[in-house]
Amino acid sequence: MTLRPATVKAAPLPWDLAGAEAGLGPASRPGRAIRGGPRNLHRLTGDSGPYELFEVTPLNPLIGAEITGVDLGAPLRADVRDELHRAWLEWKVLFFRDQWASGTHLIEFARAWGELEEQQVTSPGATGITRYVKNTDNAGWENAWHVDMTGRAEPAKGFVLRLLVGPDVGGDTIFVDAAAAYDNLPTDVRAAVDPLHAVHDLNATLGRFVTPAEAARARATFPPVTHPVVRTHPETGRRTLFVNSVFTDRITDMDPERGERVLQYLFRQLQAPEYQVRFCWRPGSVAFWDNRAVQHYAVSDYFPAMRITERVAIAGDKPY
Ligand SMILES: [Fe+2]
Repeated sequence: MTLRPATVKAAPLPWDLAGAEAGLGPASRPGRAIRGGPRNLHRLTGDSGPYELFEVTPLNPLIGAEITGVDLGAPLRADVRDELHRAWLEWKVLFFRDQWASGTHLIEFARAWGELEEQQVTSPGATGITRYVKNTDNAGWENAWHVDMTGRAEPAKGFVLRLLVGPDVGGDTIFVDAAAAYDNLPTDVRAAVDPLHAVHDLNATLGRFVTPAEAARARATFPPVTHPVVRTHPETGRRTLFVNSVFTDRITDMDPERGERVLQYLFRQLQAPEYQVRFCWRPGSVAFWDNRAVQHYAVSDYFPAMRITERVAIAGDKPY
């Protein structure tokens, strides 16, 4: 008897399933975007080791830790900087409370992680602190999952953000570990998205923030750019989902309608609470996040209260 090789037909990818199969039906349907079940949760591929120079209090098991015992107003010792760097890579976003250092000190702290990013849109060439005032005139808008400024060829490496004035309650920021979102994709989906690229466009969203003249300058300075859909973190080697609902316009070399379904599927992966940390701000709180590792969402639930923050951006490199 001759055995014929079995023909194995590849299962359809989630975004190619129709209707209820695509995720509208019960959780057992094959294309369900996020199914219940065990999650694969790793902060790093290896062990970062203990912290000895300050206290690290995790806000949940995967992402986000509060640091106590570091004064951002004092010169940063080299050994403290190195240990903080280790904690930053492990926890993706570090939080500090009651930090009233001068803006100069905040800038010095950011500089310990690299050159500052040039602002270029509202004040070309400027680096340092940008102050944001949120009130009912400009309510909402950052309440969508995003990585800051991926419309740049070299999006920022990280941000230091301090709350100066905030509501009594509300105005939290949620950060999500984009490596966990990637790790938990089915194997066939990872294989399908690994080689993809997507166009990111800063200009589609800028109109709400800047004057027409600034928008025109931004269009000239920041034409749409292409980034990999999955980027490799240059320091940890982790693969992270690098498409976001604010700046990512389309998948390249794919039928636009199908590409949009791929994006919608990937955006939904960020919604699992196991990958997230929700930070409740107080005046003087500082968040220091790795913009190569996380996405974030500014909860817009506090108006007409006002929120004033100041932010320092650290220059990044080209995603690969
Ligand atoms: Fe943001």
